[in-house]
Amino acid sequence: MERFNLWSEWGVVITVVLISIPVLVAAFIVIYRTSVFIKSYLRKKEEEKFIRYLQAMSPEEKAQLENREKELAYRLSDHELGSKQKATDSRGLIDNIQNATGLRFIEQKKKGQPRPNIDTALSKLILWYIGCAIFWLIFGTTVGEYLGIKFIAPDVDHFSWLSFGRLRPVHTNAVFWGWASLAMIGLAYYVIPRVSNTVIYSLRAGYSTLILINASVIAGTLSLMAGINNGGGEYREYIWPIMLLFGLGVFISLRCFYKTIAKRTTKEIYVSNWYIVSAMMFVLVIAVVAYWPSWQNGLGETIVQGYYMHQGVGMWFMLFSLGLMYYFLPQQLNKPIYSYSLGILAFWSQILFYTLIGTHHFIFSAIPWWLQTVAIVGSVGMIIPVVAGTTNFLMTFKGSWNKIASSYTLPFYLVGIVFYFTGSLQGTAEAFRFTNLIWHFTDFTVAHSHLTMYGIICFMLWGFIYTLVPRLTGKEPPQILVGSHFWLAFIGLLFYTIPLMLGSSLRGMMWMDGKPFIESVELMAPFWLWRAIGGSLMWLSHIIFAYNFYLMVRTRKDAAIPKSVSEVLKAKNDLDTKGIEIGG
Ligand code: HEM
Ligand code: HEM
Repeated sequence: MERFNLWSEWGVVITVVLISIPVLVAAFIVIYRTSVFIKSYLRKKEEEKFIRYLQAMSPEEKAQLENREKELAYRLSDHELGSKQKATDSRGLIDNIQNATGLRFIEQKKKGQPRPNIDTALSKLILWYIGCAIFWLIFGTTVGEYLGIKFIAPDVDHFSWLSFGRLRPVHTNAVFWGWASLAMIGLAYYVIPRVSNTVIYSLRAGYSTLILINASVIAGTLSLMAGINNGGGEYREYIWPIMLLFGLGVFISLRCFYKTIAKRTTKEIYVSNWYIVSAMMFVLVIAVVAYWPSWQNGLGETIVQGYYMHQGVGMWFMLFSLGLMYYFLPQQLNKPIYSYSLGILAFWSQILFYTLIGTHHFIFSAIPWWLQTVAIVGSVGMIIPVVAGTTNFLMTFKGSWNKIASSYTLPFYLVGIVFYFTGSLQGTAEAFRFTNLIWHFTDFTVAHSHLTMYGIICFMLWGFIYTLVPRLTGKEPPQILVGSHFWLAFIGLLFYTIPLMLGSSLRGMMWMDGKPFIESVELMAPFWLWRAIGGSLMWLSHIIFAYNFYLMVRTRKDAAIPKSVSEVLKAKNDLDTKGIEIGG
């Protein structure tokens, strides 16, 4: 084949431009966060100075403060100025009105927002969902990390149970059905009744779904490791009785959500509920299609596979997470969503185009050419919902960008939205015939999978969890640990995906040049090492996330920085008698 110029291909140029967006966003967030860090460091110093000041306070100063406290506590009786006697001002009405000399009070760290009026039984259910989801995240990504290591040390073990072919679906299914699905459904148990302004139809339904899905992932994991699977169909490797448990679980919660929405006290069905309920209906349809016995042969099976894979990611994870975003983002920014109509446009255009694009997984296959072309056109059509959704979210941010600096949840939202734009449109570029020719059999698709499933879905879910759990428990994790989670996951993802994309492009070109296959394996070695490094950072971030969750649900005492004179005096007395620590 003739040598070609990669840079003359639009698909490649679009991909490079898109990937530079998250890098720029990272730089922006770094600058923002650094300035916040410096400010909080200076505040901390001030706080220490304040503590030293309290400790060194002389009895005279203390007496002065006590006097001042009395002055401040004094209330006019409305007769003072009516008297003919000369006012002595012994209560400090005239002198020194505003100054508490030498005293500076430090702003208290933002505390967990008060628990809204939410049923404790429902909070418990939601926390169970999130707890189980986190377990599957840790488990699934530990397996993913091990798979990544196997690329650079293929002989690390020789047990059939731990072979690459068995562990790979263990990883994908655990993170799909165990982590992301449980987290989404758990969060929906909060969102659905809240935007319907009513109580949840049935808590028992919630627990049934939780048990069924957990049972499905446990049984699925064990059977896959034992070599019992559904054949080659990707993401549907669980045998049908096991997948049935998952489907039943989704059905029970779908019914519960439907009944809850039916008895809503609001006139409209808020857009979040449209997305969530549709996602649950779609996943049931696609699961039936994927397992329907008469569609499991020949080319038809391949078409079903493409349909299933992309509806799985697009109509289940993406539709569901977008529904949650339509609730949590406006809520977090304390303002309505920029445009309800854009949300509806994104909803219907997503349903129109996403359901057509499955065959883009098999460009140049034996599937009819016209069907492949429909999928490519549908992939381009996806620009409409993606741009509509991203615009809606970014315009909702408008006027509130400064909140990103003081919030530890909003950076997760922002990264999720940015990857929604870049990851999806990078998918559009990957569906073009030429780009697919270079990238299809390489690790480029693995990079795309993680840019989307990780960059979009995981970041959004983390943002929602960090928003919701403190509301349920009244406790927040330390900002530094949430920041560590964010940065390790974000940098890890960039390390994971960018080298894979670069290496895969070189590899694809090598194949087109007709070079020996093994040379392309050698070429990939350093890129796989980068993936393992990035994966390790991501994995570490999940451990921190799990610890943060623990901190949010355990019982803990919060220390407060004194604000008023009387609080300062109390702190001083406590310091003298009990030696308590101030701040925290
Ligand atoms: C505009 C939207 C999108 C388009 C056009 C698109 C396009 C593509 C294409 C062309 C492939 C196949 C590459 C190949 O096999 O050669 C692919 C694979 C994949 N995409 Fe997307 N994508 C989009 C959005 C998403 C989203 C939002 C997610 C996840 C939330 C996602 C997850 C995946 C996954 C997991 C695969 C790998 C499937 C496999 O194992 O073969 N994509 N995408
Ligand atoms: C520590 C974090 C993670 C690591 C180290 C990791 C590693 C891996 C590895 C090594 C593979 C196999 C790639 C191959 O066959 O060439 C893989 C596949 C995959 N992982 Fe992960 N993963 C991680 C997190 C996640 C998460 C959280 C999700 C989803 C929520 C996810 C979704 C997927 C998908 C969809 C595939 C199939 C890719 C494809 O066929 O295109 N991964 N992962």
